Amino acid sequence: MLFSLNELAFLALATTACAHQGDSCNEKTAPTQIRLAYAGTNGMSVSWNTNQQLQRPTVTFGSSEHRLSRSASSETSITYESSSTWNNHVTLTDLAPDTKYFYMPMCGNQTYSFTTARKVGSPEPYKFAMVGDMGTFGPDGLSTTVGKGAANPLQPGAMTTIQSLNSLKSSYDFIWHVGDIAYADAWLKEEKGGYITPLNTSDNGAVYDRILNDFYNEVEEISSDTPYMVSPGNHEANCDNGSNLTICVAGQTNFTGFRAHWNMPSAQSGGLENFWYSFDHGMVHYVQFNTETDFPNAPDLPGGSANEDAGPFAPNGTQLEWLKRDLASVDREKTPWIIAAGHRPWYMSSQPGCTDCQAAFEPLLLKYGVDLVLSGHVHYYDRQAAVENGTTQEITNNPTAPWYITNGAGGHYDGLDTPDPTLAPTSRKVVVEYGWSLFTVHNCTHLTTEFIASGNGSVLDTATLVKHRKCCWE
Ligand SMILES: [Fe+2]
Repeated sequence: MLFSLNELAFLALATTACAHQGDSCNEKTAPTQIRLAYAGTNGMSVSWNTNQQLQRPTVTFGSSEHRLSRSASSETSITYESSSTWNNHVTLTDLAPDTKYFYMPMCGNQTYSFTTARKVGSPEPYKFAMVGDMGTFGPDGLSTTVGKGAANPLQPGAMTTIQSLNSLKSSYDFIWHVGDIAYADAWLKEEKGGYITPLNTSDNGAVYDRILNDFYNEVEEISSDTPYMVSPGNHEANCDNGSNLTICVAGQTNFTGFRAHWNMPSAQSGGLENFWYSFDHGMVHYVQFNTETDFPNAPDLPGGSANEDAGPFAPNGTQLEWLKRDLASVDREKTPWIIAAGHRPWYMSSQPGCTDCQAAFEPLLLKYGVDLVLSGHVHYYDRQAAVENGTTQEITNNPTAPWYITNGAGGHYDGLDTPDPTLAPTSRKVVVEYGWSLFTVHNCTHLTTEFIASGNGSVLDTATLVKHRKCCWE
């Protein structure tokens, strides 16, 4: 069944016992899980959760920390069955590009800040962070111990990936989390493994909800001042980790929490909710596509290979038509780089990858000259060559095909994967460590990736893509 966010908001209202005459602040309206997302180069989405519905979520903001002279609001909070919290989304508009603003969600007691996206076509170099497959850390997720059947606990004293990302956040403009967020659906595995006890499938999804809240609270130290862009991954689909959908309560199926929690810039880019969208930032056009549903043989669709029974979320063909239109409209003089992300990779060191994803997306990525494709899903760092229909090109010699980097090493309860000893011919570097990626966009011809080990911040891989083209601003 297809719900828009507005419809979800209506459902939220319909399940509320009493109408609110106005919002008064109390401990239940205190903002938590504050998170930002780009909303065009002159906008910013501010989202947060409360333990009570707000009739009119409002953010005050301004260019001075001591004078939050402007305000913006939205219709109401939204929630869903089994959720202990309400999601609030307010989009601030008419902002100047690359400018610092201060803000405070209603009923807050502290001021936060953000910097808007760089002007489209700005030639200034910058960095962005990418992480994949990152769950909650601590007693409900990845820690220094594991339960039965799990592996790869954190080393004592090692930083978690969230701590590592936070320690270096002044170096990058935004984070792109390319799917598999929080791993709340690991609750069953954790209970069966004796990691969290007792095994209880009759708690109306309470532990799933708790793990989601754990994650969003943990990541808030980054997402409250750094835009946090997200992709749908298979672990957003349902509560059951692909095992037995009948144990999921209604609010924990079909990407419901993912749809309610985030506010990606699909309205600004003609996309769909948090599933597919694009945004510009300086020299780069960023494109998010959805490898889970909404294309032929998508793995999470009813009857699909992942057994998730999710989606579709739009009429047949909508996503691919949008992707084609979006890529065709890019002004390469302003944004010479196109970087795309989708959760499931198809070029991987350990085959097979998502061949149905490849059939759907690769022709368009090739046709429109996408420079770099980012993925997660595989739980290690897996840098590939530039590849066209299986044929490799070297990244230092002006490839015409996209360069593929997969990094699903953010860390979650299930640990890391083990690559096959025989690597695919497209493979260039594999690192089996918890970590995240830092990208530097130097100019219109050079783009560097670094793989950062979360535990100690060391750089375990670096590579630079070189394009032979003239920058239009030279
Ligand atoms: Fe995944």
